[in-house]
Amino acid sequence: MSIAELDQKHIWHPFTQMAEWEPLSIVRGEGNFLFDEAGQKYFDGVSSLWCNVHGHANPRLNRALIAQAEKLAHSTFLGLTHEPGVRLAAAILEVVPQNLTRVFYSDSGSASVEIALKQSFQYWQLQGRSEKTKFVRFENAYHGDTLGAVAVGGIDVFHKMFGPLLMHSIAVRSPYEPLWSKDAGRGLELALADLDHVLQNADSIAALVMEPLVQGAAGMLTHPPGFLSAVAKRCAAAGIHLIVDEVATGFGRTGTLFACEKEDVEPDFLCLAKGISGGYLPLAATLCTEGIFAAFLGARSEMKHFFHGHTYTANPLACAVGIESLAMLRERAADVAALAALVTSTARTFDGKPYVREVRTCGTMVGIELGDANGGELPWDKFVGAKVCNIARRQGMMLRPLGDTIIWMPPLSSSKTEIESLRQATETAIQECFT
Ligand SMILES: Cc1ncc(COP(=O)(O)O)c(C=O)c1O
Repeated sequence: MSIAELDQKHIWHPFTQMAEWEPLSIVRGEGNFLFDEAGQKYFDGVSSLWCNVHGHANPRLNRALIAQAEKLAHSTFLGLTHEPGVRLAAAILEVVPQNLTRVFYSDSGSASVEIALKQSFQYWQLQGRSEKTKFVRFENAYHGDTLGAVAVGGIDVFHKMFGPLLMHSIAVRSPYEPLWSKDAGRGLELALADLDHVLQNADSIAALVMEPLVQGAAGMLTHPPGFLSAVAKRCAAAGIHLIVDEVATGFGRTGTLFACEKEDVEPDFLCLAKGISGGYLPLAATLCTEGIFAAFLGARSEMKHFFHGHTYTANPLACAVGIESLAMLRERAADVAALAALVTSTARTFDGKPYVREVRTCGTMVGIELGDANGGELPWDKFVGAKVCNIARRQGMMLRPLGDTIIWMPPLSSSKTEIESLRQATETAIQECFT
């Protein structure tokens, strides 16, 4: 039986309508390309769901992985420690906002957010602030698919179904306003006014959670400059924690190592995943301040410690690759900044093109929203975004849409020629789809 047939027989894929699923089996990755069973080559235009950093089968990352596998593949972090876990934490703490001093590992972006929510909640309980039980989030937010993360998300198609299972969170207006909105240009002002209103009840609020600069899964909805720092100031003034979710934006995607740098923001919690292991292995981390960490200290009998942990927490293989990946990113900081500028300017060439409704960019993160001939919304159930990506795939370009928004998030090792091929394939696919 072929892999495709076996897949059809046994596998249930994420975010996939299995009744219409046509398997495409990837057998190999090299540099910024993936190869299927038939030997067809594809540029990895979305970095394998936004996590690949330095390309596939990178020799330095491979060496780090193999060297670690020969020493220790896994040992629990519950009550034991190991060098890769400790060294990666120290390396990360060198490059994140300086108020963050502690690293709590897990294995997915969703888990990193759940952990921040639980730690914030428990922190306030330990402080005797038992009334601080609520969380604030933004409209259109996405923080993952486990129930705690879903509870602070706001994308209806992903989250509405599970409403009855979720803890309540308070939604604040997103600062993103599309070009065609009557409130275009007023997003920052309106969102901050809504936030100010919500923060009048800050006594009952533990934390606010947000994606910095861009709401990725909602379709790369970009925030006005200054919004992140304005929110941070308000959280500090209101006495609530700020949880910044850099699962998507972290490790170079916006052109700087972290989005927080762009607005000099020091969050109380920082959530990291995806690029943390260069896109090789599942790894995540929730960072917090020494003050938050210290609140959990005491005699064991006081039962103040944080009762949470996953079997593969701080997996040494993932951490060893993460150390090498971060070192490479730091060495290549100027190249990453240049790539971000190139991807942004390349994407902006789609502005005003037929069937392009809006182009949204944040460094290497791009959303090209498609529209009808008059710039109107496309009927959602025609799945035009998916059709465009399927056409691009036939030209050797691997893309994945979010609704009718075409996403680009190329590996940070992409060349100028590869970015030009990304542009060409997208343009041709849009033209072909609409003619
Ligand atoms: C901002 C953000 N947070 C959390 C997640 C969830 O990460 P994971 O899929 O690793 O659970 C994602 C995934 O796309 C994300 O974009």
